[in-house]
Amino acid sequence: MTPKTFKIKSFGCQMNVYDGERMAEMLAQQGMTAADDALDADLVVLNTCHIREKAAEKAYSDVGRLKREDGSKPMIALAGCVAQAEGVEAKRRSQLIDIVVGPQAYHRLPDMVAQAARGARPVDTDMPAAAKFDVLPLRRRAAPSAFLTVQEGCDKFCTYCVVPYTRGAEISRPWNDIIAEAHSLVDAGAREIVLLGQNVNAWTDGSHGLAELARELATIDGLERIRYTTSHPADMTDALIAAHGEVPKLMPYLHLPVQSGSNRILKAMNRSHTVETYLATLEKMRAARSDIALSGDFIVGFPGETDEDFEATLKLVDDVRYASAYSFKYSPRPGTPAATMEDQIAREVMDERLQRLQERINTHQLAFNRSKVGTDTQVLIERKGRYEGQMIGKTPWLQSVHVETSAALGELIDVTLVQAGPNSLTGAMLQKVAA
Ligand code: SAH
Ligand code: SF4
Ligand code: F3S
Repeated sequence: MTPKTFKIKSFGCQMNVYDGERMAEMLAQQGMTAADDALDADLVVLNTCHIREKAAEKAYSDVGRLKREDGSKPMIALAGCVAQAEGVEAKRRSQLIDIVVGPQAYHRLPDMVAQAARGARPVDTDMPAAAKFDVLPLRRRAAPSAFLTVQEGCDKFCTYCVVPYTRGAEISRPWNDIIAEAHSLVDAGAREIVLLGQNVNAWTDGSHGLAELARELATIDGLERIRYTTSHPADMTDALIAAHGEVPKLMPYLHLPVQSGSNRILKAMNRSHTVETYLATLEKMRAARSDIALSGDFIVGFPGETDEDFEATLKLVDDVRYASAYSFKYSPRPGTPAATMEDQIAREVMDERLQRLQERINTHQLAFNRSKVGTDTQVLIERKGRYEGQMIGKTPWLQSVHVETSAALGELIDVTLVQAGPNSLTGAMLQKVAA
């Protein structure tokens, strides 16, 4: 039976969120409508992530939970990075799965749904160089802050990471496609665009880099803010750093994962930077844009990480004074070089290190938030708050702000920041003095 309603559940990174939105648009174009709950939907797409432990097991147990009490089930599509990694094996491991579709093949989803409706169990995990972008429709709906994927894949092969295997080689979307999609997003109501890529700052069309792309996007009327994520230290060009000092719409926030503060561990991770080159990049960035908020990713417990290595990571966190940061316990991924390295670190050691690292990060995050109290800034209203009249938006530095206001979604308002916690701030509408 051809499904009439669908539910897409996305896990993992922002690129999966973007892919989920694109799948939803395609299914809507086929006349299907979105269901609120997976249990009511005729078709459920599980858009999975493979980055950390037990990802595949979790996906299969999510599939199992879609069976209804009366024994029936929706049509089930396994999508995303677990689908890419498992391929046809997924059909064998779970009879409940009707469709297996990888991140580079989801433009074929409507087709595959039609096949599945006829009783087939199609699998497509081909990795053509992003052919999907040629056939995806233009954007008709957009949140105040909208994602736009400009680059996909990774050639860096950090020794712990599955992304080069699940997302394929680095490719960049063409300039004109990106500009057209940006216009469609702004026409649909976006005030901020977040450019996405596994290595977004490696984007190039052969003659331009991300800096030129950002400058061009900044000329779009109605677009107020530009962000990009995630960047790799090796691709942080002087041109992009300079753009931060010159393009006001480019927000003062940089997410630049370092992973460890120990050069020995960075080498074993096959990261191409050292602590020194990483810090030099941040220094240049601060020279170009003194108020830049810095963010990063860390892995604790990489094989062979000693107490000394870990202390070096804590020191780096103190030296940089991150405005925010994400930290993870190392998770061995089958097929990656680090999974078979000697000196795997005991779980208790990892737990303890992660806790200490997160405490340190939180201290700096709170200090950064507090440093803004008493200042006036602009907040982009992105969603409703918990209470009537309360709205939640973001500062230029990507801090969440709760504010009582009658402003609508997508409005940029002037506020005074009056109170700060570790994860958000409270703002008050700025009283404009009558002229
Ligand atoms: N391309 C980005 C990050 C992609 S994955 C970059 O290189 O910065 C997002 C984050 O997940 C990584 O930065 C890393 O901190 C974490 N991660 C990736 N593989 C991991 C693993 N095997 N175990 C634990 N954390 C991991
Ligand atoms: Fe993974 Fe490294 Fe590529 Fe980032 S740069 S996606 S961590 S392999
Ligand atoms: Fe996860 Fe794939 Fe993103 S593994 S982090 S969903 S690229």
